[in-house]
Amino acid sequence: MLHYRVPTAQLVSALTLACAITACGAARAPEPTPLPARVPLESAPALTMLGAHRLVPAPASVTSAEGPPFALTATTTIVVPASGGEASRVGAWMATLLRPATGLLFPVSAADGAAPAGAIVLRRGGEASRGAEGYELTITSDSVRLVAAEPAGLFRGVQTLRQLLPAAIESEQSVAGVPKEWTIPAGRIVDRPRFAYRGAMLDVARHFFTVKEVYQFVDLLALYKLNTLHLHLSDDQGWRIEIDSWPRLATIGGSTQVGGGPGGYYTKADYAEIVRYAADRFITVVPEIDVPAHTNAAIAAYPELGCSRPVPVPSPNAPMPGLYTGIRVGWSALCHDKEVTYKFVDDVVRELAAMTPGPFIHMGGDEVEVLTREQYAAFIERVQDIVARHGKRMIGWEEIGRAKMRPGTIAQMWHADTLLLAARQGAKLVMSPATKAYLDMKYTPATELGLAWAAHVELQASYDWDPVTFFKGLTENDVLGIEAPLWTETVSNISAAQFLLMPRLPALAEVGWTPTSARNWESFRTRIAAHAPRWRLLGVNYYPSPQVAW
Ligand code: ACM
Repeated sequence: MLHYRVPTAQLVSALTLACAITACGAARAPEPTPLPARVPLESAPALTMLGAHRLVPAPASVTSAEGPPFALTATTTIVVPASGGEASRVGAWMATLLRPATGLLFPVSAADGAAPAGAIVLRRGGEASRGAEGYELTITSDSVRLVAAEPAGLFRGVQTLRQLLPAAIESEQSVAGVPKEWTIPAGRIVDRPRFAYRGAMLDVARHFFTVKEVYQFVDLLALYKLNTLHLHLSDDQGWRIEIDSWPRLATIGGSTQVGGGPGGYYTKADYAEIVRYAADRFITVVPEIDVPAHTNAAIAAYPELGCSRPVPVPSPNAPMPGLYTGIRVGWSALCHDKEVTYKFVDDVVRELAAMTPGPFIHMGGDEVEVLTREQYAAFIERVQDIVARHGKRMIGWEEIGRAKMRPGTIAQMWHADTLLLAARQGAKLVMSPATKAYLDMKYTPATELGLAWAAHVELQASYDWDPVTFFKGLTENDVLGIEAPLWTETVSNISAAQFLLMPRLPALAEVGWTPTSARNWESFRTRIAAHAPRWRLLGVNYYPSPQVAW
């Protein structure tokens, strides 16, 4: 999102850029990096030692073993616990992942006890101290044994197995003879995430993204062991979620986007599909309704919510007066002293809470220029009460530290040390420093997409930082985790989004997952290079950063 101190000239040129590359003309995302005519998979050296892995995020502990590798063959089976449940679902997910490229069957059977020879065995158990997402993986020539306390840990472990196989495993069709052998070197991996919250945000308000595009975004989160999908569902330019008690929010508020395209919104059924798709990958959806600022789309639909402030600059390409298709921020606000505002917030949060199984609702709270400090604090305190009344935990951008925070409210850092106001009140923190974690920042001045108000963020900058030491005085216990937000003023389709995500999203995933002792830039830049063939096979666009020998 734009910082409110962006000089006007930059805003104008950013808007011109947004129009140039997005909805005002034909979308011009950078072309997906083409797949070489003959994928050089045959020549890719097979992984012969587990210790030479190319895993991202790097596991906490990897030990190579002597002896031959485990090979996927026509007789390889997947064995899940007899009790079934979510562990069986993970087994079935793995079979679906492995079948297309290998052309092998991978029958899934349910049985406890010793593993039959040649099986990949999923088991619940191991040390509870590894947490819900920890796992251990033991690979011998006879079997692969994946053990986790919870199904989420099994799913994360399956992503490790996936990455240990040749990149060709991502192919949608059987690649006869390429590679000749699907092998995984022998050894043991014991792994668990450093932080409980590891997310990415997609701003579907500035530009609307279809349900299928959201799935494509989620697929990347899953591959890199992220566990939270934050959807920025409302802003000045669009309201993207159906709310029965205020229907015009979606039908009018959702009818445009930056640059004046048709916009769109998710029906409740669409949203349920997104929640289910994410949950199948053990990813929690955090919906955001940004209040009290960033609310022009809602006010355009229901003018009684505003204090009759007009849009700051005309939007000639907006489909209706009152709708806004530019990218300035900070100017809109709900009328803080009208009761209808709180009825609106209560209705929206009630409906959103009912359709969101996860524990969090994000209520924004950023970039409010038109309320006094006292008015802002009183507003946020009432909103926290509403969220709590509907059984959820509130997240807000760091500015909410200026209000009295309820126990359990989480502050998300983005640009300043306002966050420390929240930390001093005992709030848990999600770290998204714009200079490191904002995926909409350009890589370099030459990057066609994105903005640059915080920094140019090349790959190494997104990798080389620590969420706890970023601010003096924080402890590991203060930090719930990290999140990588993608604001979409300049991003109008998933291919453009992928160009900004990849390879920074995997770098940030490693910041969130891997213990400091196992993190190293030189190692990361070598490992990530091996992921590009995978992305090409998946049809994922990426920025070929010169910091990596691809
Ligand atoms: C923000 O970028 N305004 C949270």
